[in-house]
Formats: sequence, structure tokens, C-alpha cells
Amino acid sequence: MLSTIKSSILKNSYFTETLLSWYPKHKRDLPWRNTHDPYIIWLSEIILQQTRVAQGLPYFLAFAEQYPTVQDLAAAPSDEVLRLWQGLGYYSRARNLHFCAQEVTEKYGGTFPKNYRELLTLKGVGSYTAAAIASFAYGEAVAVVDGNVFRVLARYFGIDTDIASPAGKKTFEKLANSLIPETQAGTFNQAIMEFGSLQCTPKNPDCKSCPLAVGCEAFRQGRVGELPVKINKVKVKVRHLLYLYIYNQEKLVVNKRISGDIWEGLYDFPVIETAEIFDPGEKHALLEELREMGIQVHWQPERQFKHLLTHQRIFANFAALRFSEASKNVLQDWCSKRDYQLIEKDAFEALPKPKLILKYLEEGD
Ligand code: ADE
Repeated sequence: MLSTIKSSILKNSYFTETLLSWYPKHKRDLPWRNTHDPYIIWLSEIILQQTRVAQGLPYFLAFAEQYPTVQDLAAAPSDEVLRLWQGLGYYSRARNLHFCAQEVTEKYGGTFPKNYRELLTLKGVGSYTAAAIASFAYGEAVAVVDGNVFRVLARYFGIDTDIASPAGKKTFEKLANSLIPETQAGTFNQAIMEFGSLQCTPKNPDCKSCPLAVGCEAFRQGRVGELPVKINKVKVKVRHLLYLYIYNQEKLVVNKRISGDIWEGLYDFPVIETAEIFDPGEKHALLEELREMGIQVHWQPERQFKHLLTHQRIFANFAALRFSEASKNVLQDWCSKRDYQLIEKDAFEALPKPKLILKYLEEGD
């Protein structure tokens, strides 16, 4: 019994010490690592939850330049914030980012809360982000558990509990919190994430060069490729959309997505959603209205896109409808009635749009 406890303490302290000595030799020089400013740390973490460092860095730099303080971000128009986020996807994160900046500005006078518990109350800040801010900005000893951390811990300690289950999350959080050194909490958190990102990679990690290999259970058992275990229970909804790109030389019809939608606040085109793949012969009210207005509908099945999101598989068709000068006024009335906007193509460029729309515009011209 005593020897088991001793060997477990040894295994744990070997893990922590090895990471702390590996980190300064291998870490990437990233702008959010040279600061204790909770705003900058929060901003980077929200962006990095969405994407990898290489893709996230230019977004981080753009946000930090445009909004040097949390008050600047709070005061920005929401179209502008969403436009800067454009391309990252998962737009509820950007809306929460904006809301949270306003919350910190109005409720906390522009100063982020000073500990993990209070940080957790902010919009869009979950246990991961609260732990990251609390440890990096204030040195609070609370462990971050993201995908990298799950992987490093699951392999080193040989844990096959499903990381997507509440029990798995609890197990890994408890373990990570038992390993974090009180006096170097921020550095340890950065180190374990960086180790997961650079050394203990998801695919084909180079275990021969790994300083933790001597104590690694997965390595000893030849199970590195099997861990961590993640049982995917995400239900994917299939959607069929037909977008109507109604345009002439200078203008086009745009639609602002309403609240409650995954693309809330973004701009796209009038759209028809159907349960099954759209039948061009089908009489749809929107198409009928356009026909009655004298706008000719050309079915263009070749402009079809498949768009995969975490919870949705979207099959989108785009029909391009050119309107004549003669139908401009009646089209304008139609837009007003339906809450669409007939705007200059240049003005559309500056508005935030879903990736699917960008794909269509980029591939179409
Ligand atoms: N991924 C998430 N947070 C990170 C950070 N602070 N540094 C590098 N990669 C990260």
C-alpha cells in the first residue's frame, strides 16, 4: 500500500517536473504569453477554442489592434465584431465575446473579476476559460482541461474513461488539479497544453523523443493510438437550403439572420429551406412571388455546396436571379415587405457573412 502511494507520488511529481523543464525549451513565442492582462488572455482563449494557433493568431492580432481594451470591444458595433470574426465559424462565440465585454465594462467597471469562481459567471466563460484566465493572469492554482490536456493525461496515466462524458470530465479535472503546482500554476497550464500541441500530438506522436515516455502508461501498453477515448454522441441534423442570389450589376438582395439562429446577426440571401433535397419543379411561395414580379428564376443545380458543422450537415444550392431595371421598384417593395435589403454589392463586402456564403461568392465569380 505504502509503496503504491509512494510510486504514485513519484509518478505525479515526475510528470509535473518534466513538463515544467520541457516548457521553456520548447514553447512557442506567442503574444498572449507575454502578458498578465486578463482581457488579452480572455480574448486569445476565446479565439483559440475555435481554432488552432496558426489560424487564430491573425484573428487575435486583428482584435487586439482594433480593440486594445475591453471597453473598446464593448463599444464596437456588433456588425463590426462579427465581421472581424468572419471565417472562424461558431458565431455564438463572437456574440458572447461582445456581450461579455459589455458585461465586464458595465458591471465590473472594465476590470475582469479576479478569481476562477467569479470569472465563471461571465457570458461564454466556462470552466476551461475561467481556469486559463485565473491561472495565467492571477496565478490561481486551478487546472485547465482542454483537448490537449485530456490527451496528455489519458495517455500518461492510461485512463480510458470517455472524455466526452460528465464523469470523464470530472475525473480529468480532479487529476489535473492534483498535479498543478501552487506556485507555478500558470506555467504548468501553459506547459501541459503546449506539450499536447507539440509533442503528444493526436496522430503519430514521436514517442521516441518524448521525455515522459519512461512513465507513460499508454506507451508501456502500446495503446498510444487508442487514447484518449471519445465517444461521439453529437446528433447531426441534415438541412437542405436553396439560396436565391438576386442581383444586377450594382446591387443584390440580402437577408439579416434573426435571433435564435446559428448565424444570428450575419447576412446571407433569401433562402428556402426544405426537408428533402429541393425539387426545382416544386411551386414554392417565394419563387412564385418572384415569378409574379416578372423575375425569371434560373435553376442552377451545378452550384451546390456541402457544408459541415458540428451539429449540422448542410446541402446548399444557389440559384442566381438577375433582375431587370424595370423590376427594380417592385423588387424594392418586395424587400421592404419581407425585411430583406437591396444593397450595393460593395456594402455587402463589409458585412459579416457565414462561411458558406463566402464560399459561394469566392467560387462563383
Ligand atoms: N490553445 C488554447 N490556449 C492556448 C494557449 N494559451 N497557448 C497555445 N495554445 C492554446
